[in-house]
Amino acid sequence: MKKGELLYQGKAKSVYRSDTPGVLIVVFRDDITAFNGEKKDVLEGKGVYNARVSAFFFNYLEKNGIQTHYLGMEDDRTMAVRELKMIPLEVIARNIAAGSIVKKFPFTEGQPLSPPVIVTDYKNDAAGDPSINDDLIIALGFLTPDELAFVREQTLRINLLLSEFFAELGIDLVDFKIEFGRTDNGIYLGDEISMDSMRLWDQETGESLDKDVYRFGKGDVMSAYARVVERITDEMRGGNA
Ligand code: ATP
Ligand code: TYD
Repeated sequence: MKKGELLYQGKAKSVYRSDTPGVLIVVFRDDITAFNGEKKDVLEGKGVYNARVSAFFFNYLEKNGIQTHYLGMEDDRTMAVRELKMIPLEVIARNIAAGSIVKKFPFTEGQPLSPPVIVTDYKNDAAGDPSINDDLIIALGFLTPDELAFVREQTLRINLLLSEFFAELGIDLVDFKIEFGRTDNGIYLGDEISMDSMRLWDQETGESLDKDVYRFGKGDVMSAYARVVERITDEMRGGNA
C-alpha cells in the first residue's frame, strides 16, 4: 500500500492517506512527549514497541467482538487503518486511582476503583483537553444518547478484556485512554492502545511499566516498555491470547 498525503502530524504518530479509499496509514514515531508537549524526547525503537502492542490489542479485541480501525501492519511501525471521522473525546477508564484523578479529587494514589470509573475529556489541545460530561457531549452533537451508551458499554468491555489479559501477565491495568470514531457502518475503536496510553503496574514490585517512567523520570523508559512487549510475546507463544 502506498503512503500518500500527510493528513496529520500528532505528537507521537503521523497519519497519511493511502492509495486505497477509506484506508489511512498510521506511522508510530519514536517521539515521546508529556505534560502537553512541554517535555519531549526521541527514544529509538519506541514507535515499534507501541505499534506492536497496539496491533496485538486491536487483534485481541476484534477476536472478542469489538470493532476496531485496525486492518494490518505494513511494516514494524506502520499500520493500515480504516479511516474514521474521529469523535473529539478522550475516553479514560480507571481501575485504580492514579494521575490527574488523584490531583483533582480526594482519592489516594493506588486506591482501587470498583466498579471502574469512566471519565471523558474534550480532545482540544488549545483548550487544555477539559473534562466534559454526558450532557455536554450530547448538546455538542458529538454523540447521540444511544451512541453514548454504546461507547460507555464498549469501554467497560474493553477494560474487562484488557484487565483480565494483563492480570495473566502479573500486571495491573491501572487506567487507559481510548478514542472512537465513526464510518457509515457505525462506531469503531481508533487511535492506539499502548504503553503511552495506559498505566501499567507490576503486581509484584509496583513498578510502572508505562509512560509514567518517562513523565516522572522513574528509570529507563525503553526497558520498561520492552518488559511489557516481552510479557505479551511470551503469553502469545503460550497460546492464551
Ligand atoms: P494526543 O497525543 O493528545 O492523543 P495527538 O493528536 O498529538 O494527540 P497522535 O497520536 O500523535 O496524537 O496523532 C494521531 C491522530 O490521529 C490523533 O488525532 C487521532 O485522533 C487520529 N486518528 C487515530 N485513528 C484514526 C483513524 N482511524 N482515522 C482518522 N484519524 C485517526
Ligand atoms: P490522566 O491521569 O487523566 O492524565 P495524566 O496522564 O496527565 O496524569 O490519564 C489517565 C490515563 O489516560 C493514563 O493512562 C494516560 C492516558 N492519557 C493519554 O494517553 N492521553 C491523554 O491525553 C490523557 C489525558 C490521558
